[in-house]
Amino acid sequence: MIHFNEKNRVFNLSNADISYQISIEEQRFLAHRYFGKKLRGDTFRGDYPIIGRAFGTNPIDAEQRAFSLNHQLLEYSGNDNGDFRESSYQINFSDGSYVSQFNYKGHEIIDGKPDLDGLPQSFTETDEQAQTLKITLEDAANKVQIILNYTIFSDYGVIVRSTEFVNLNSESIFLDKALSMSMDFSHSKFDLIQLSGSWARERELIRHKLNRGVTKADSKRGTTSHNYQPFVALVDPDTTEHTGEVFGVHLVYTGEFVSNIEVDEYNQTRVQMGINPEHFNWEVKSGEVFQTPETVMVYSADGLNGMSQEYHRFYQNQLIRSKYKKEERPVLINNWEATYFDFNEEKLHALIDEAALSGVELFVLDDGWFGKRDDDTTSLGDWKEYKEKLPNGLKGLSDYTHNKGLKFGLWFEPEMISEDSDLYREHPDWILGAKNRQSSVSRNQYVLDFSRSEVRENVLNQMRTVLSDVPIDYIKWDFNRNMSEIGSRNASVRDGEILHRYILGLYEVLETLTTEHPDILWESCSGGGGRYDPGMLYYMPQTWTSDNTDAASRLDIQYGTSLVMPISSMGAHVSATPNHQVGRSISMEMRGHAAMAGNLGYELDLTELSSDEKFEVKDQIEWYKKHRKLIQYGRFSRLISPFDKNHKAAWMFTNEEQTQAVLFFYQTMARANDSFDQIRVVGLKPDQKYLLSHNGETYYGDELMYRGIYINHDLHGDYQSKMVEITAVD
Ligand code: GLA
Repeated sequence: MIHFNEKNRVFNLSNADISYQISIEEQRFLAHRYFGKKLRGDTFRGDYPIIGRAFGTNPIDAEQRAFSLNHQLLEYSGNDNGDFRESSYQINFSDGSYVSQFNYKGHEIIDGKPDLDGLPQSFTETDEQAQTLKITLEDAANKVQIILNYTIFSDYGVIVRSTEFVNLNSESIFLDKALSMSMDFSHSKFDLIQLSGSWARERELIRHKLNRGVTKADSKRGTTSHNYQPFVALVDPDTTEHTGEVFGVHLVYTGEFVSNIEVDEYNQTRVQMGINPEHFNWEVKSGEVFQTPETVMVYSADGLNGMSQEYHRFYQNQLIRSKYKKEERPVLINNWEATYFDFNEEKLHALIDEAALSGVELFVLDDGWFGKRDDDTTSLGDWKEYKEKLPNGLKGLSDYTHNKGLKFGLWFEPEMISEDSDLYREHPDWILGAKNRQSSVSRNQYVLDFSRSEVRENVLNQMRTVLSDVPIDYIKWDFNRNMSEIGSRNASVRDGEILHRYILGLYEVLETLTTEHPDILWESCSGGGGRYDPGMLYYMPQTWTSDNTDAASRLDIQYGTSLVMPISSMGAHVSATPNHQVGRSISMEMRGHAAMAGNLGYELDLTELSSDEKFEVKDQIEWYKKHRKLIQYGRFSRLISPFDKNHKAAWMFTNEEQTQAVLFFYQTMARANDSFDQIRVVGLKPDQKYLLSHNGETYYGDELMYRGIYINHDLHGDYQSKMVEITAVD
């Protein structure tokens, strides 16, 4: 898949669908030549014009006035040799100098994909699945190397990139900036797509035309955050859900990130992604290597759905490691919105009893089971059961749950500490913060400094004790604030390294626990989807998508999330009406239809439902169990976007054999005398007959796909939905 053309000095990475090409210019500089649909030839360097332009600098010599880095399309560039665009790295050398010059030194092509130490990462099962190109650049004067890693997989439209900094100098070097990737396009005729939002409003799809200048999406909140996903896509302005070119870049990392998109004076576009330099300054000691996180770059010619399906497939197969990655996920009941902190054994037993009757398979005990936790002011850090609420202990509750035929799950927030806790009284210096300065609280809590091994060890051991005493099948791992005052009270760690060391420390704990407890189903959470990133996905196959459980809001949130995240990772719960976050009332049917488009769960007091509603819940669960394989692991296609502001949304799921599909349509606001929507179904076999559940009619696949069907004209009222099963028949 990877070939180096010696004569023309071109690297060609190609599989059946995509090509990525890099050339070596002037024996030294790495130029970006191409990323996109597969190209046949790999001998052509591209005919990028080399012409002199005023105010260009000439790094080769005065004779070669035409060659200037600022006019080249580059792979990974500093800004000290006359490339005046956004730099990929910034190195501070021990003598105080910043100027560097990295030239091509050599390369290696290897089968498979080498492991990245201590970081979440995509992987191969066999070496035949992928090849990796490692290109070494060297600054000979400073004795520092940069290694650019590119992996191409045979079965995906994906290139995975990361970067290493190797210090061969006898002195330390300091990285002020060390991005994972950078890539230039020859034009700027793109729309930029990002997913940004806020708590309870995660991952809104934002699309706008690119303009001259630098556009940035980033996090300065310690972790990836609710506010931006570490993802950008550049798309052709005509790209739709089903057609057109898309270039996606997604970072496999949970800390602060930055993505820069720069359109330069010649309307060329640079796209970059990596660790945010904002709180980052890393010492690479003599002989050491700094490894950046990796980015997953997808090219698709089949629109946004094409890109998403590629991300879903790739993450599902080559990133998520859990033993549950391909298993049907259990229907759960979570007590949070049912009881909040106000529960006792009796209430929980009643909820579990009712859940068992409904067909629920997993009971999750949320916040409030430990220390003296009656509200959010206390006890984080003290992971011992609260006996007044649970006189028979967690073990008693776990046994009760198991006896009812349900699995037992438990909530933790391991990285946090309350001032009112035994752990804080013992170790007030274990919190994240600047020396001799007060740290800000948020939700009455501080963040534990996970860059420190003694802190990690303490929390790990507390969790180990609970896990060895109590049979636990599922854990929800929460993180309920942003980080501020990012410094350490530990004199041995430099402030510029805290955050990345924190994230590496978190990864170490997750690696340990998930290895020690492979049978536990892990779900990540951060006030809902504040840390819903590929880094966490590597360790935990599920995420609580959002604290907003309102079915109408969930259409936006799940639609946006599905751009990059597989459906099997998306927690979606039916909650009470009126909804607790937005006060909206929606029928049980539509609440079910929204939640059934993810990992179905319930988060309400089932005992308070009317008997009709209880029947409805039972039916939903029964239906979902029959169809969840299709929903969780089928091919997901978005059909109508709720972001188009027409108060509608639709999506569908199709199995691999194309014999079964389910389509959901949602109407959030009724419109008098409305126009009709002829919905074109996707992903069926044209010559196969299919039976439609809503009208009992049979159609050929081509009729459904090319002509479409009318399914929503009989919906009357706000917040209505419809589900159609599409089944192949003879
Ligand atoms: C966060 C989670 C919720 C719940 C609460 C408990 O907000 O997202 O689901 O677990 O914490 O405090």
